[in-house]
Amino acid sequence: MKKPKRYLVTSALPYANGPLHIGHLAGAYLPADIYVRYLRAMGEDVVFICGSDEHGAAITIRAKQDGVAPQDIVDRYNALIKDTFEKVGVSFDIYHRTSSKLHHETAQDFFRVLNKNGEFIKQVSEQYYDESAQQFLADRYITGTCPKCNHEEAYGDQCENCGSTLSPTELIQPKSKMSGETPVLKETTHWYLPLDKYEEWLRPWIEQGILKGETHHNPNEWKPHVLGQCKSWLDGGLQARAMTRDLTWGVDVPQEIEGAEGKKLYVWLDAPIGYISATKQWAADHGKDWKPYWQDKDTKLLHFIGKDNIVFHCVIFPVILNAHGDYILPDNVPANQFLNLEGRKISTSKNWAIWVHEFVEDFKEQPEFIDILRYYMIKVMPETRDSEFTWKGFQEANNTELVNNLANFINRVVVLTNKYYDGKIPTIDKSLEINCSSEEGKKSSFNAEFNAIKIHVERVGAYIEKYDFRNALKEVMALSELGNKLLQFNAPWSLIKTDEEATKVVMNIAAQVVTTLGVILFPFLPDTSKRICNLLNLPTSKNGNLKLLLEKLENNQSIIENNHQINKPTHLFTKLSDQWVEEQIQKLEDSQEKEISYVGLKKETTFDDFQEMDLRTGTIVTAEKMKKAKKLLQLTVDVGFEQRTVVSGIAEFFKPEEIIGQKVLLLANLAPRKIRGVESQGMILMAENEKGELAFVSPPNDFGNGFVVR
Ligand code: 2FM
Ligand code: ZN
Repeated sequence: MKKPKRYLVTSALPYANGPLHIGHLAGAYLPADIYVRYLRAMGEDVVFICGSDEHGAAITIRAKQDGVAPQDIVDRYNALIKDTFEKVGVSFDIYHRTSSKLHHETAQDFFRVLNKNGEFIKQVSEQYYDESAQQFLADRYITGTCPKCNHEEAYGDQCENCGSTLSPTELIQPKSKMSGETPVLKETTHWYLPLDKYEEWLRPWIEQGILKGETHHNPNEWKPHVLGQCKSWLDGGLQARAMTRDLTWGVDVPQEIEGAEGKKLYVWLDAPIGYISATKQWAADHGKDWKPYWQDKDTKLLHFIGKDNIVFHCVIFPVILNAHGDYILPDNVPANQFLNLEGRKISTSKNWAIWVHEFVEDFKEQPEFIDILRYYMIKVMPETRDSEFTWKGFQEANNTELVNNLANFINRVVVLTNKYYDGKIPTIDKSLEINCSSEEGKKSSFNAEFNAIKIHVERVGAYIEKYDFRNALKEVMALSELGNKLLQFNAPWSLIKTDEEATKVVMNIAAQVVTTLGVILFPFLPDTSKRICNLLNLPTSKNGNLKLLLEKLENNQSIIENNHQINKPTHLFTKLSDQWVEEQIQKLEDSQEKEISYVGLKKETTFDDFQEMDLRTGTIVTAEKMKKAKKLLQLTVDVGFEQRTVVSGIAEFFKPEEIIGQKVLLLANLAPRKIRGVESQGMILMAENEKGELAFVSPPNDFGNGFVVR
């Protein structure tokens, strides 16, 4: 592909059904943000699109769990997720919503065009129906055993364990998520997209990057695991896929189309069209035309996603776009794999996750933590295989790389420049010899070191363009390491005593490196980039800065001018202690919903035996601690017709003064028993949970005393 005129970059629209965790961030958002910030810094025309995916079973299941309306769920999480993205510096040009009117209209227009073009097949099929809930079950409402890997919690459309795409009828022992019952098959009519019909162009497009006889993209630029999934789909044989559903929440099938009543668009038809409607909204907000971004061949379209979304972005959405006819196809779909956490899969249901909004909140007093998080997540980004986040790794990345390498270097340059030259970049004689930064004992010059900077910067860009963000960041850190070595091998703190002019050369080139770091860190650690620019008293990195830097490097022009006045040192990063690491791990462990082990059932009893027990409603009227008995309280319980003295083992959980007036149930015909010299005339019923905590089992406060419980 020749150099694109513009870029449209999308990140998967997150379901607005829960908060974001670090796995989401590492998968589809941080890589896209780096790429987009890089393009902006290179002065390119780029629009970065995202928004909430507000339809589909993900939303309605969550709403049902919480006992609220789907609208409440999407409003809540759309706001939370949008805010979280802003706080971690993910710089979308727009964060839109698929519940918006513009989106509904856009998705319906798509459906109309495909329908008019005869792309759909209307077909009656049997689908799973939950008889007790009286509704057809969307794929995500059915779970069962995966026929490919035997994972027991596969969904009707996909197995998240092995990544296979499934249809509900393939599941072994299907179960309805609505009622837990086995669903039955029932006839219903839907609009299907015959994916097999498109194989003729889809296969060469995916495998060779050829579309309509022209080279569209280079398939070698696609990640092997992405290509692999696509090929296995093609080889498995494409099948028609229903583009409508029997649901109450979602985008309506355009009502003028016959049979549309009660039918909604399939969420995987609706959601990716969300990228288009978001672009339309962005364009409307900024007085621009959205069409070139989606319809001009000179646009480079990129979808950043997690690996569970590959087929939807590499097969289904391209088929939809191509069937429509007016749209371009993605140049690449740089999907990431999954991020694990402390040796386990991240799990929302088990709460094994670091929630990004909680991280932001926990460390809001230390704003540099956002960039430490970004740094570490890039370092362990699951670009080609699953990877792992550990708090120990987080600490090490901070302590050895951000503190010892980056912050230490920058601090030394700022301190020494202030000390030797009153904070002014020294003017130098470029012909002087200094020691080389790459090899101890070797000689070098300003120009040679300047060239070394250029090589690093070019490599950073080349890696970013290949979606290899881990290596790009390593290259940035290699530049910082170059700076450290330059100082180490030249030791300006000694050199200044013998050769002031050579010291100036060393300090000048060191300042060039710091400035370069300030610019080149912008895509990765935007806040740190800003703080470095502030230290140097330079305008903050923004659009086009990297392009300018490269031009200067190319033309051997100083990046920071002689005599430029920099600011006083301030710290960039501080070390994290082992105790801090332990605290984070403990927090994670504490957040676990522990498996509850229930006490086993007692042996069967009879109704007659139960009837033998005389249970009465009552009220505690006096309560006092018993002497020399830590666990016991002496109570008086009013049971209407009389008052009873009861000794109860609840002193560890309740203070006497707190339970006066407490309604209780009393086993009133229990044989009296002397406890510590006091006759106890009955027993109060208490419930005990898995932690051994006690709770009163009691009638409502306005319920009288002395009545029978049966
Ligand atoms: O997997 C998900 O979270 C989906 N909501 C992603 C949708 S991406 C796009 F197609 F909208
Ligand atoms: Zn499976």
